[in-house]
Amino acid sequence: MHLTLRQLRVFEAVARHLSYTRAAEELHLSQPAVSMQVRQLEEAAGLPLFERLGKGVGLTEAGREVYSYSRSINRSLQEMDEVMQSLKGVNRGRLHVAVASTVNYFAPRLLAVFHQRYPGITPRLDVTNRETLMRLLDSNSIDIAVMGQPPTDIDVESESFMENPLVVIAPPTHPLVSERLIPTARLTGEVFVMREPGSGTRQAMERFFKEQGLTIRHGMQMTRNEAVKQAVRSGLGLSVVSLHTIELELETGRLMVLDVEGFPLARKWHLVYRRGKRLSPAARAFRDFVVQEGPRIAAPAPLPTAEAAPPTPPGPLSKPQEIRQD
Ligand code: PGA
Repeated sequence: MHLTLRQLRVFEAVARHLSYTRAAEELHLSQPAVSMQVRQLEEAAGLPLFERLGKGVGLTEAGREVYSYSRSINRSLQEMDEVMQSLKGVNRGRLHVAVASTVNYFAPRLLAVFHQRYPGITPRLDVTNRETLMRLLDSNSIDIAVMGQPPTDIDVESESFMENPLVVIAPPTHPLVSERLIPTARLTGEVFVMREPGSGTRQAMERFFKEQGLTIRHGMQMTRNEAVKQAVRSGLGLSVVSLHTIELELETGRLMVLDVEGFPLARKWHLVYRRGKRLSPAARAFRDFVVQEGPRIAAPAPLPTAEAAPPTPPGPLSKPQEIRQD
């Protein structure tokens, strides 16, 4: 069989996505270029590898076989690359970090200091949702992920390195802003602007209210923290967000943190990588750096007290509530 690594790589992407379009996007190729590589591989194999299924594509039996080989070939190539990187030592090499969207509020700060310390390492940062993070971890396409809850269905190692308090936010004109120790049951009368279902913030918030036996009213759903904050500012409801995301709004008094019993919810940020993965020296340096210095560089500012920073609220907040991290 005369085939090329490039054909296998392209095939692997189409088979993983079951879509020529998404594979082309991922590989930064045109769709005809992707189709051509797959056709050439099918000619080399002497069998069709894909079949049309309605509007989509599926793998034939031969395609499934080739997919399993192409995945293990890709993994070996990646391992070879990692070994070469490690032979170059920590002062050179690449680092591929993928983070959950909320992490974007502090990841660039961490990378900036890391880059000053290791200028020879070229970092790449992908900001994405939890579902894609899982896929990237599962396919071994990244060195390290930074996320709220480590996955339980993929074999990973994880280390927590920093607090991630979740708070209830409201516009400054909201009547609850001036109240202290608001019972959670009072929130059932409010509408909540929601993050998308895959968001770690949303999952933690829903779990908390479920544990309290409360049903909250869902308002609009938004996939970005920025959109959620704008919606809350515009009076579309309250929301629960990470304290990391509202530093500027608290400084300027554009959003308020409500003093609700049980809040802030105490979550943590985790570094996550595949168990058994041979971390490159660059990735090891990044892991050590984040664990040792992450909180100093990127911890969220403490919540302002009513006395210290009027008009930003609120007074002493209730003790953080530990919530499950499963
Ligand atoms: P997210 O944050 O809500 O942006 O997914 C990550 C997390 O808290 O797990």
